[in-house]
Amino acid sequence: MSYSPVIKWSGSKRSQAAEIVKFFPDFERYYEPFIGGGSVLRRLSPERAICGDLCEPLIDLYQFIVENPIALIEAYSEEWYRLKDKGQGVYYEIRRRFNKLYLPQDLLFLSRTCANGLIRFNRKGEFNNGFHITRDGIKPETLGKIILEWSEALKNVEFRRGDYRQTTADITDNDFVYLDPPYFATKGMYYGGFEFEDLCDYLEYLNSRGIKFALSYDGISGDKSRVVELPKELYKQHKLIKSGLSSFKRLQGNVETVYESLYLNFE
Ligand SMILES: C[S@@+](CC[C@H](N)C(=O)[O-])C[C@H]1O[C@@H](n2cnc3c(N)ncnc32)[C@H](O)[C@@H]1O
Repeated sequence: MSYSPVIKWSGSKRSQAAEIVKFFPDFERYYEPFIGGGSVLRRLSPERAICGDLCEPLIDLYQFIVENPIALIEAYSEEWYRLKDKGQGVYYEIRRRFNKLYLPQDLLFLSRTCANGLIRFNRKGEFNNGFHITRDGIKPETLGKIILEWSEALKNVEFRRGDYRQTTADITDNDFVYLDPPYFATKGMYYGGFEFEDLCDYLEYLNSRGIKFALSYDGISGDKSRVVELPKELYKQHKLIKSGLSSFKRLQGNVETVYESLYLNFE
């Protein structure tokens, strides 16, 4: 199954999603509380899913995609033609509006027209990447088709705004959770806060309740090991998944093969 991303998102697992889902066990409900660009959810396509993110406009965008895809396509199209006509001032106008109102359609527009498609927030939660001068954003007709596909694919997913501990509060031991939190090197780029120690406490809690999880976390790049050590008692298997280069890594001048860790708390 192939699909195109609907929103460009930093840290996307698109290049690894097919490999990652091979390790998933059977479950009743699928939880993905760090949904980001939704690449693993889309690859897996589960019957029952509960997905969340701390980034509220992102969750609002998924709801918009499901509930009113045509209005979303129209909003993108209108701004895209205005940008083509009037130039980059339109991009900065939309960025200012987003940082005031956090409208989901503006987040989609910025992700498709910002420099290198890199979604980046400052500590105040303001989107701060500039305009991609040398490239038009994706054409409205092309994005329109992608939005309609995602709208259909996501119609049975429940979306929740908030911290991963809240959005998975009703998880049971028949369910499965895939976790893809901000990594050490990138956590400052995301919206809101995230602490590694809290994640370890959460994994311990899942273990104590017999709830299966898979966790993507950091990894190694070329021969330079930069594996962030997850305490060994928290997981049963550690896999290394080959990934493509993210725009974040490319911008850092990284041209080596990248592997990312996948930790599983089951055999
Ligand atoms: C690495 S990205 C997920 C990427 C996703 N797997 C994909 O393929 O696009 C991490 C996500 O965690 C979200 N996030 C950060 N802190 C969070 C928290 N405390 N609770 C829930 N989500 C959080 C960020 O907004 C971001 O979307």
